[in-house]
Amino acid sequence: MKLIIDDADVKAIRRIWDYYPCAGVTTNPSILAKSGRPPFEVLREIRAIIGPDAQLHAQVIAREADGMVKDAERIVRELGDNTYVKVPSLPEGFKAMKALHAKGIKITATAIYTPMQGYLAGMCGAQYAAPYVNRIDNMGYDGIKVACEIHEIYKKNDIPCEVLAASFKNSQQVLELCKYGIGAATVACSVIDNFVKNAAIDEAVEAFIHDFEGLTAKGTTMSSC
Ligand code: G3P
Repeated sequence: MKLIIDDADVKAIRRIWDYYPCAGVTTNPSILAKSGRPPFEVLREIRAIIGPDAQLHAQVIAREADGMVKDAERIVRELGDNTYVKVPSLPEGFKAMKALHAKGIKITATAIYTPMQGYLAGMCGAQYAAPYVNRIDNMGYDGIKVACEIHEIYKKNDIPCEVLAASFKNSQQVLELCKYGIGAATVACSVIDNFVKNAAIDEAVEAFIHDFEGLTAKGTTMSSC
């Protein structure tokens, strides 16, 4: 399961990119709006941070398929080849996905709440399908189960699409999906920051350093003892 950053806060992206093994960055219009900056300015800055080989996902805004295709062409023109165009998984979106697939543009089907949407997106040629785990949970359903069902549908039907699960509020939701080997999870920087936040870990590492410094001298390490 690839780990992807779901954010448009360039400072936070730079930090998380530096520390963790991330495959790229996803955004959506609401995430971009939080930056308060021109969308392509932010997206180009994110592209510069992650480099040309990492995945960058940006969403179309148009309501109709023709407009979605135009949005997608601009997104790829501005942000380069390894850009996935996020297309909402509703009827106009499926029509756009088929057209984009024919043009060889990479697609992330988004706004997925049901396995049926996932199935249709995969059949329309999407490379990724993004179920919204936490939002599904908040509706009283099981977001993990929906993501796993879509994963199973792809495997059992040889549909070359992967689940890119989105909308996480805690690390347990992410880890639960990792166990099923889905394609990717995209997670906000604030949630990734809490992946390894545990006093027991910090205490263990501090005790090692303290004991070593007792053996040698304060401030020494293996390269300087
Ligand atoms: O793009 C989809 C995902 O980022 C939604 O996350 O936290 O708004 O439910 P959230």
